[in-house]
Amino acid sequence: MARAKSVFVCQDCGASHSKWAGQCDGCGAWNTLIEEQSTESAPKGLSGGKGKKIQFVGLTGEEKRPPRFQTGIAEFDRVCGGGLVPGSAMLVGGDPGIGKSTLLLQATASLAKSGDNMRAVYISGEEAVDQVRMRAERLGLADAPVELASATSVRDIVATLDEAQPPHVVVADSIQTLYVDNLDSAPGTVAQVRTSAQELIRLAKRRGFGLFLVGHVTKEGAIAGPKVLEHMVDTVLYFEGERGHQFRILRAVKNRFGPADEIGVFEMMDTGLAEVANPSALFLGDRDGEVSGASVFAGIEGSRPMLVEIQALTAPTSFGTPRRAVVGWDSGRLNMILAVLEARSDLSVGANDVYLNVAGGLRISEPAADLAVAAALISSISGTPVPMDTIVFGEVGLSGEVRPVSQSEARLKEASKLGFSQAIMPKTKRKGGRSAPKADGITVREIEHLNELVGLLRPVKAAPPSVLAGG
Ligand code: TYD
Ligand code: MG
Repeated sequence: MARAKSVFVCQDCGASHSKWAGQCDGCGAWNTLIEEQSTESAPKGLSGGKGKKIQFVGLTGEEKRPPRFQTGIAEFDRVCGGGLVPGSAMLVGGDPGIGKSTLLLQATASLAKSGDNMRAVYISGEEAVDQVRMRAERLGLADAPVELASATSVRDIVATLDEAQPPHVVVADSIQTLYVDNLDSAPGTVAQVRTSAQELIRLAKRRGFGLFLVGHVTKEGAIAGPKVLEHMVDTVLYFEGERGHQFRILRAVKNRFGPADEIGVFEMMDTGLAEVANPSALFLGDRDGEVSGASVFAGIEGSRPMLVEIQALTAPTSFGTPRRAVVGWDSGRLNMILAVLEARSDLSVGANDVYLNVAGGLRISEPAADLAVAAALISSISGTPVPMDTIVFGEVGLSGEVRPVSQSEARLKEASKLGFSQAIMPKTKRKGGRSAPKADGITVREIEHLNELVGLLRPVKAAPPSVLAGG
């Protein structure tokens, strides 16, 4: 009989090694190799047995697709691409305690209550039935007909769900607690996570229910267990937010059935998660008066324009090397903007510590935020506030040029809706007689180089009536 072979699998990236080592060859992480039983038998090739012929079909089918399941929580449905696709698998990742269980309990309860004989199953491997009930009570959902169970054995779960009438939606919270009993590794290891997910996804496809897998996130922010988990599922959602803030953002990073990069905004209350239909108003809510070092960025998150405040603080450093600290933006990008300011404009950042913060706990990844960041920095260095009624957006290149970004008009419209009246933005190309982007009540100031922005935000001897006036 062949001896069971053991392999050493990296718990971060899933690479397997024949020998133990301190560092993983695959991803370079330290102390992540754990011994597991090899699940692969030696490859046999295709010898023996002939395959069946497969049928090819056209791209348009006769069959009518079943409709998507709507939870009725608009922010949630939109991030899923307009509701859950039957037979699809979604991975919901996020830090512990961010609210994944709360979100999914609310979604399943809302679905179960929606009528249409929707059956929603919630399987918790982390909490006892009583604990989930307590949470449901607190959320005011105790009367929702959700079918609740506390289980961790994938064999039991599959046997239960593979019955005559499968449910419409199943939540498995969390994938790290589930185990398959014919593997020797402990729950939470790569082999267990991968196999458990595989079994549940296969069942979901076969029986046509929407499957939610809750996944914890490692210190580095990746979903624990290997990347393969992200390849196996149809949709990957991240639930994120700053601990101290009550805002939570559900972000689609991969979606086979809808747009990626879509976000939904929630607020964590003492009665659970509440939808935030107008996030711009919320993110700008606490602005009081004109202060230097703040600018309002008109961004696009997914399909939606969103205004956020960007705050910068510069102060003379007391160390040899100035400090750069960023919350909510890419620190490499901040360094680039600082270098461009130093080299291409007549403004000196010099030996200043620089702190940058995106207010409200939002994370921005758009390059269009460059100009707003630059405006906040210039304003902080010069001590001149960016006028309250002004929004800023545009990408900054290495030579200091300001480049056009997409969806200018949508950004301007959102700003107009929220009562802004001026915009500093890149000069748009007007080929083929296209008119300049505009919105009601917004005076647009188009700039081509960072120096023009520095000029606009320069300290003026007399109190500046409006930096945009005249210009
Ligand atoms: P939870 O959903 O258990 O997080 P996860 O499943 O991602 O680990 O969320 C727990 C946190 O949410 C906890 O810190 C308390 C907070 N919370 C509220 O603020 N209000 C509520 O109504 C609920 C249910 C939780
Ligand atoms: Mg949980």
